[in-house]
Amino acid sequence: MKVIRTIKEMQQIRRDERLNTIGFVPTMGYLHEGHTSLMKKATAENDLVVASIFVNPLQFGPSEDFETYPRDEQRDQQIAKENGVDILFLPDVQEMYPDELKVNLSIKERANVLCGATRDGHFDGVITVLTKLFNIVQPEVAYFGLKDAQQVAVVAALINDVNFPIVLSAEPTIREADGLAKSSRNVYLSTDERAEAKHLYKALLHGLNIFINEQQDNDTLIQSVRKYLSKYTSGVIDYVDFLSYPELKPVTNKSERMILAIAVKYKQARLIDNVIFNRSGDIIETIKF
Ligand code: PAJ
Repeated sequence: MKVIRTIKEMQQIRRDERLNTIGFVPTMGYLHEGHTSLMKKATAENDLVVASIFVNPLQFGPSEDFETYPRDEQRDQQIAKENGVDILFLPDVQEMYPDELKVNLSIKERANVLCGATRDGHFDGVITVLTKLFNIVQPEVAYFGLKDAQQVAVVAALINDVNFPIVLSAEPTIREADGLAKSSRNVYLSTDERAEAKHLYKALLHGLNIFINEQQDNDTLIQSVRKYLSKYTSGVIDYVDFLSYPELKPVTNKSERMILAIAVKYKQARLIDNVIFNRSGDIIETIKF
């Protein structure tokens, strides 16, 4: 595995490898099985796999955890190597943002709900760094996890609107044995919080069950999930929402795919999770855009 730290070298590799297909896995590091599942998929489907690790300051709010976001470069290099990554792109902040940006990228739709409602500017930061990374790496396919389903919806809009010649491959959420979605931020949970965090996924399945069996209206469904969360976790509910996917608009009886999504705040970590399903209630784990 080659480790590349400059944009210039990364672009040279793309020119040298122009006859090969590149699968790209952008990350912020502190790699876990959620990330490595994307790396394995990219390895199976492409000639060359590029992964990036860059904790992007632009997508963190002033009161968020940019400074304390977990980092472990040595361990990450080892994990990336073991999971088929050929090129690991590891730029620093100066390399990615040498000057103040003169161009402003801003997402108009799909960003004012769910996480976007409280994380002001977060998705603008995400599309900005991804626009740069897509232009630097120039992959055929980019791999993202549906754990961050709103991010997938936003990136699908970016790719479509500005015609990046990239297929977006959205992959299953990888979970711990008890159902908790793997996340770099899970290390911040106390023992008690970790024990009850399994109820996030259980709350989603409870909601899905109500959708399938009880034909409730959307508000009743949301209230039932809120009730479940309040009963089984001490975390503060940030949101519970039920929207069409990937449009992230209110669900109607024409919506083909829906997302039930939650965010719960614990002392040091805010956890998110979701399930996406069709009108029959079948869970959708992968989507190609
Ligand atoms: P990060 O949180 O490091 O996640 C990198 C990729 O791993 C994302 O596509 C995310 O959805 C996926 N991922 C994380 N946990 C997962 C899990 N449990 N199962 C499946 N996939 C999982 O998302 C980002 O970084 C950044 O916003 C980024 C896209 C790199 C832009 O800065």
